[in-house]
Amino acid sequence: SKGTYEFYMLKEIDEQPGVMRHLSQDYLDDAGHPVVDKNIVDAMSKADRLYIFAAGTSYHAGLVGKDLFETLTGIPTEVGYASEAGYHFPMMSKNPFFIFLSQSGETADSRVVLKEANKRGIPSLTMTNVEGSTLSREASYTMLLKAGPEIAVASTKAYTAQVALQAILAKAIGENLANPNAKNFALKEELALAAEGIQQIVDGKEKIKKLADEYLIHSRNAFYIGRGIDHAVALEGALKLKEVSYIQTEGFAAAELKHGTISLIEEGTPVIALISDPITADLTRGNIQEVASRGASVITIAAKKLAKYGDTLVLPNIDYLLSPLLTVVPTQLLAYYASKDKGLDVDKPRNLAKSVTVE
Ligand code: M6R
Repeated sequence: SKGTYEFYMLKEIDEQPGVMRHLSQDYLDDAGHPVVDKNIVDAMSKADRLYIFAAGTSYHAGLVGKDLFETLTGIPTEVGYASEAGYHFPMMSKNPFFIFLSQSGETADSRVVLKEANKRGIPSLTMTNVEGSTLSREASYTMLLKAGPEIAVASTKAYTAQVALQAILAKAIGENLANPNAKNFALKEELALAAEGIQQIVDGKEKIKKLADEYLIHSRNAFYIGRGIDHAVALEGALKLKEVSYIQTEGFAAAELKHGTISLIEEGTPVIALISDPITADLTRGNIQEVASRGASVITIAAKKLAKYGDTLVLPNIDYLLSPLLTVVPTQLLAYYASKDKGLDVDKPRNLAKSVTVE
């Protein structure tokens, strides 16, 4: 039940520290090694390429998964919209392995791809929050997100669970393949930092509500920008905001704005910049300058180790690969308050259903 919460979305945002702790307890042993079904690890270790298919927020989690799998396992990884792959099947490597990310396990677009994979004998794994769901029954293997039921149409805790569980799986495969990056990745400690960090961010939600009220609710449009893994989170932040607040929002690779879209920046256009990639942080700051000088109202969300005087929100430090676990949380809260403070039905945005069972 919602308990004292007005909407499930905020309850589910607040539950994320607990989700991080449960995943760590259930999927990592005391020494921090992943506890994952050996059959899954063996099957994936044999793959020469991983293919992640999903839709919406789960697709955005897959974009983060690509970085995790490639860094920790060394296996090239592609991410695709299930809806596209179903009818334009990507060219396959010799030994592909498919990963389906789906909170509900019922997304019709993903089922089309899985059916084709099964026809071709391609092994597959479904990561889902719903035990016994269709995608879970039809795939070769299943891993459960264990995030607890997600009721709000806007997905929040399933996203962070998908990122964390992909990290666990990538470390398991990487350790099996003796990949040094996997061996050195202190995942147990990092997930503890994630839990604490998310808690700190949700405890500061009043400040985020004020930002939504001041910069977003009176605006027709908004932008999220970031580079590297921050780009993946920019796409997710934009989807979340537009889905529940009806403010048209686009996520961009920070430098791409200047290749056309910067013409949309006017006095007061909100631009939310994410800065957790050490390699590109200064370049992103340059892009912030470009939009600020055209009148944009810029909100900067930066990791502590990269923060500069004047940043709007400073987030606790965490390994770059897991930074989405923290950067996504203010984007969820901005979306929540923008919707609620416009008087909208946060949990049930118009035209949307929780699981999309039609193509
Ligand atoms: O259940 P799934 O994870 O397969 O759902 C995929 C999308 O339909 C879903 O993430 C959708 O984009 C959400 N409404 C986003 O908040």
